[in-house]
Amino acid sequence: MQTPRRRIGLALTGASGVAYFLRTLERLRAFPELELHLVASEGGKRVLHDEENMKWGDINTEGCVVHGTRNIGASIASGSNGLESLVVVPCSMSSLSAMAIGMAENLVHRAAAVQLKEGRTLIVVPRETPLSLISLRAMVTLREAGAVIMPASPGFYHQPQTVTDLVDSVVDRIIDHLEVADQAVRRWNPTPTGPPNPQA
Ligand SMILES: Cc1cc2nc3c(=O)[nH]c(=O)nc-3n(C[C@H](O)[C@H](O)[C@H](O)COP(=O)(O)O)c2cc1C
Repeated sequence: MQTPRRRIGLALTGASGVAYFLRTLERLRAFPELELHLVASEGGKRVLHDEENMKWGDINTEGCVVHGTRNIGASIASGSNGLESLVVVPCSMSSLSAMAIGMAENLVHRAAAVQLKEGRTLIVVPRETPLSLISLRAMVTLREAGAVIMPASPGFYHQPQTVTDLVDSVVDRIIDHLEVADQAVRRWNPTPTGPPNPQA
């Protein structure tokens, strides 16, 4: 009997940083053991156009299950047929707030609500600056409800040379949290004593 594939959802919403979604998808598509489910909000499709000059249909989704934004009858909208993990990347403050109050106006919100009610993994990658008290409180609420809040906040300790390096520093953390064994994930490798002369 074949081992069932792990069902992972990726949701695009209308925050800046569509590149995080595209890169997460590109890297996860390399793992045939994953069954990837994709969905975008209307805002996500708009920012995809503004940032990447792409339409939703232009994305290479070969081998993935693509769901309609308003298809609240999709498999991922049901706890009985849900996902192991859902990543909302990037996550707008609008979607963040909707998820925090349990509003399910579109399939992104509904799939997130299902993850929380079923006690399954929900990873939220918010992007906004500065953050209002409303957004901060929404993050606390989601964290208390069991979500992982993973801001789109790249690290610089790997000495990035390209935009992709910066994007990957966030995507690496997402992939780690999904427990996908990707050898490309870079890890901090500290020198035992730090720089030879910290004063120099
Ligand atoms: C180019 C562009 C960039 C945006 N960047 C952000 C952002 O970084 N964070 C955010 O919360 N909203 C951002 N917005 C606004 C959201 O797209 C807007 O609030 C939208 O209604 C979100 O809807 P959604 O959550 O259903 O995708 C941006 C909009 C545009 C057009």
